[in-house]
Amino acid sequence: MNAHPLAALFPLLAGPDLEALAADIGANGLAEPIVLLDGQILDGRNRHAACSLAGVDPSFSEYVGADPAAWVVSKNLHRRHLSESQRAMVAARLATLPRGANQHRPIGLSRTQIEAAELLNVAARSVKRARAVQAQGVPELVDAVDSGAVAVSTAAEVATLPSAEQAEVVARGDVEILKRAKEIKTARRDAKRAARAARVEAEATPVEQPGVSWLSGDALAELRGLEDCSVSMVHADPPWAYANQRLNGTSEGHYSLSGMPGIVEALNEAHRVAADDSYLLCWTTFALLHEWFTASGDLLWTYKSGAAWLKTGGRPGIGFHWRGRSEPLLLYTKGSPRPLDTMVPAGYGSDVGEHSEKPEGWLRLLVSGFAPTTAPVLDIYAGRAPLARACVAMGRDYIGIENSPERLGEARRAL
Ligand SMILES: C[S@@+](CC[C@H](N)C(=O)[O-])C[C@H]1O[C@@H](n2cnc3c(N)ncnc32)[C@H](O)[C@@H]1O
Repeated sequence: MNAHPLAALFPLLAGPDLEALAADIGANGLAEPIVLLDGQILDGRNRHAACSLAGVDPSFSEYVGADPAAWVVSKNLHRRHLSESQRAMVAARLATLPRGANQHRPIGLSRTQIEAAELLNVAARSVKRARAVQAQGVPELVDAVDSGAVAVSTAAEVATLPSAEQAEVVARGDVEILKRAKEIKTARRDAKRAARAARVEAEATPVEQPGVSWLSGDALAELRGLEDCSVSMVHADPPWAYANQRLNGTSEGHYSLSGMPGIVEALNEAHRVAADDSYLLCWTTFALLHEWFTASGDLLWTYKSGAAWLKTGGRPGIGFHWRGRSEPLLLYTKGSPRPLDTMVPAGYGSDVGEHSEKPEGWLRLLVSGFAPTTAPVLDIYAGRAPLARACVAMGRDYIGIENSPERLGEARRAL
């Protein structure tokens, strides 16, 4: 007769234990009938086997109730003295029981690991470990936990080894299992510590690049500390504030937003710092163009032309009547500069990177076309500073201003 899958949650008796039960049934008869559900043994697999061994005809009764799984668990917990590890193994099996052939009626009531842990009165962590042992452990290891010989926490460590090694460790006995489990745990903890130390070290000591200077602070204040006419080209990617509050929310989580008068003031300070005949390249957004041209009447730079970055890949930008797929880059001059390269494209297509990060490939073309090699390139509102990476790759000097220490850290580490 087949056993119901719920009956298989608990290990079978074997050897002397089964023989003792058979002897008792042979002498005193079967005291408790075998309980059936759907024609299968729900409770009494051991009694059924012992009856066959003793040559006794078993008696049967039908299960009546709504939650056979809870019933089987409660019966067995009363009958057996199971350790926490053994109960965890039962709970893990209960949580992974497949549903019955009839999809509308589960074999037991299906349970999560947490519910199974509660039913078996074990910690959810033990159930997780038991699941790992059942999923990755060799049969000998699973048996060792089921029989109560090895704790589930120890077995879960051993289960991380390749199968052949697991079998070897289990064959050498309990002491060896415990020793190997400790070694694995220590090695894992050491590896974690080493990785954490390496991360801290990398974050604390970014590699400094010759020719690259970082100014950590407010753009206007930092610009005031720079000498007149000391940079070859100015690049600015301001933290625009939108009048539309809904759009504001999308960038506020990423950086603090300045009003337009503050941006005009900073760009005018950059005008003083820029070489006599030089370019300013300033990013904005199409939604803000009209407002910006209105608000920037006092700008000392002369507007000349515009270009656009066509963003490919990734998700489309924020919705503003249509989904943003491009960003304008405005070109301004101080004095009468001439481009070093007349082939710089006024448009560029590339995949989007991190939030607000500008395309390094285009930045390189802009540097080669608009920044004489005689002085550093100035990057206001540097962010993750793809321009710094472009300058380093081209062997050009660079000054970056950024007021967020986290972003500055990212920029320095990315070099
Ligand atoms: C539009 S993002 C620049 C993104 C950058 N172009 C990139 O590719 O990563 C604006 C940057 O300006 C910084 N910022 C905001 N207010 C600032 C201020 N007053 N002074 C300097 N930096 C500021 C923000 O932290 C943010 O990184």
